Amino acid sequence: MKIAVLGMGTVGTGVVKVLNTNKEKIESLTGEEIKITHVFAKNVDKARDVDLSGIEITDDINDIYNADIDAAIEVMGGIDHTYDIMMELLNNGIHIVTANKDLLAEKIDDLTEAANKNNVHLNYEAAVAGGVPIIRTIENSLNANQISEVMGILNGTTNYILTKMTVDGWSYEDALDDAKAKGYAEADPTNDVEGIDALRKIVLLSRLAFNRKVDIKDVPSTGISNVDAADIQIAKDLGYIMKLVGISKYDDSISASVEPIFLKADHQLASVNYEKNAVYVNGNAVGETMYYGPGAGSLETASAVVSDLIHVLTQPANGNFQPAEDAVIKNKAVEYQYY
Ligand code: NDP
Ligand code: HSE
Repeated sequence: MKIAVLGMGTVGTGVVKVLNTNKEKIESLTGEEIKITHVFAKNVDKARDVDLSGIEITDDINDIYNADIDAAIEVMGGIDHTYDIMMELLNNGIHIVTANKDLLAEKIDDLTEAANKNNVHLNYEAAVAGGVPIIRTIENSLNANQISEVMGILNGTTNYILTKMTVDGWSYEDALDDAKAKGYAEADPTNDVEGIDALRKIVLLSRLAFNRKVDIKDVPSTGISNVDAADIQIAKDLGYIMKLVGISKYDDSISASVEPIFLKADHQLASVNYEKNAVYVNGNAVGETMYYGPGAGSLETASAVVSDLIHVLTQPANGNFQPAEDAVIKNKAVEYQYY
């Protein structure tokens, strides 16, 4: 299989490393070699910490459109321009693997329609909770259930900041700088700290869990940019831990939001620290389930991206999930500030 990787930053370099390090194992699963033939990036001369020799590196998207490839991994980010690129590729019969929750939260239904029309995969395991396998878990493993609730710590950057402030006594600014240096934050971390990234993820999870199209504009979100050391201390004094949590409940209609809330210190999500994410899902057959792991990072996210690629090679492209109906969102601020 010949592939192009669009974007060669934190996640893109992780993808190259996972494909190289686990080459033998991956080929034993897929029965064929996966060869990166093209990389699309902004700066073709930039030094990367992976060996890209023999790969055509280009900043001209037409080189990707004209390439003889079977699949493209989109790990460049962006919305409008990236949407056009993905549509062009899907309409050319190219499978897509993407980590781009910003784009998916706005356009997943259009992209899915194009993918299904062209009988190709549109896989996005890495778009929610990084390395935690939550997308296919809800889409496939829990699909016998009526799901009533999804709740989670869905943003590694803000969880890292809140943990550093709560556990290690760091300032907000120092913790954010460290999250940037470690590659957890987006290139512009505004969407992380303002709760928009977690909002996008709870929208994607709600769509899958409740089998409804969810309009992101209907879901309110608040971030942590106004949280200071005094807020953290008040929570501690009262026996609570502050976490940025996405909650979505279904009972005829959806109630969803993202906001910083006070969790009792013994709540399962209260001990999810640093860049880790965790997602709680309640289904009417299985009951309560939890999924935990790294919400961001290079190899951690690449783990999910490469898994999606293996899925392309080992599973038939017989229709990506498309919700049955539009959601009725009964929104309002979530009723519990304390959980
Ligand atoms: P980076 O900023 O590290 O890398 C982005 C890459 O895309 C760079 O190589 C950049 O090129 C290239 N790029 C960006 N814009 C363009 C453009 N307009 N044209 C061509 N190339 C472009 O991002 P990340 O790797 O951190 O994230 C990539 C995607 O994965 C994003 O959608 C992000 O939300 C998502 N994601 C990230 C996670 C993480 O832990 N970092 C986890 C889960 C998802 P150049 O290098 O030349 O500047
Ligand atoms: N910036 C995101 C986060 C990356 O911090 O969770 C993973 O989606």
